[in-house]
Amino acid sequence: MRIQPLNDDFAARITDIDLAQDLSESAIAEISAAIAKYAVLVFPNQPLTDDQHGDFTRRFGPIDKGLLLKTKRKRRLENPDVMDLANVDHDGNVLAATNVRNVSLVANQYWHSDSSFKVPAGKYSLLCGIDLPATGGQTEFADQRAAYDALSDGMKARLKGLVAEHWAYHSRNMLGGGGYSEDEMNNLPPVHWPVVHTVAGSGRKSLYIGIHTREIEGIWTPEARMLLSDLLEHATQRQFVYRHEWTNHDLVMWDNQATLHRGRAYELGELRQLRRCTTEAA
Ligand code: OGA
Ligand code: MN
Repeated sequence: MRIQPLNDDFAARITDIDLAQDLSESAIAEISAAIAKYAVLVFPNQPLTDDQHGDFTRRFGPIDKGLLLKTKRKRRLENPDVMDLANVDHDGNVLAATNVRNVSLVANQYWHSDSSFKVPAGKYSLLCGIDLPATGGQTEFADQRAAYDALSDGMKARLKGLVAEHWAYHSRNMLGGGGYSEDEMNNLPPVHWPVVHTVAGSGRKSLYIGIHTREIEGIWTPEARMLLSDLLEHATQRQFVYRHEWTNHDLVMWDNQATLHRGRAYELGELRQLRRCTTEAA
């Protein structure tokens, strides 16, 4: 495989590899080393079936089911490892722009880290682009290691030992609610993670924040929310961001423990279809 950095140590493109094949241990080790260094990997031209997508993902750890285990929504895809990010109904027709099922897709346009709202949280996400809108709909990634490194010494000292609460439905509620029942929401109570952690693989320190965070233990809610908002603003400055412009059959893999990501707006009435598999953090 050929690994071309897109920046010094954030985001790389990997070519000359076929992810549909049963890859050798050494190839998987090479990809693991690359993601430890670059945190985001772009594999162009990988038209994988759902089974191949799941099989490749499982080489990096157990599959994370995100919200799927906790919600009662009927699934469109057969393979239970694959998350369906498509604005279509069960017959494949594009949803009306205001359909409540679009809320979770729009919520992906907030900066977030996949499955930070559960234990174990998400580690790697592998997202395949299948149908992309003509304009908009890019995905952006922000390097949370570089963002941590760039904090002042005073802020690093302030964040030491702080623990944030992450809740899955905070982002949906911010958008006016995603049509989830009280039961569903109570089924997935908030979890707590340090605001700064060390990333497995690289040993680098990283911020761990995003739209799922809504409290910091021991800090008055308004002050905590403003601190989280200030941190997010710092952490998503352009110098920390790689913007992915999708081409069909790109597979983008990222480390949720080292990055934040968000989708960019698109015409909701236009087809946009991606599929994601995620692994659990150890
Ligand atoms: C995701 C996600 C953003 C996008 O797949 O986890 O947040 O651009 N996607 O669809
Ligand atoms: Mn996501």
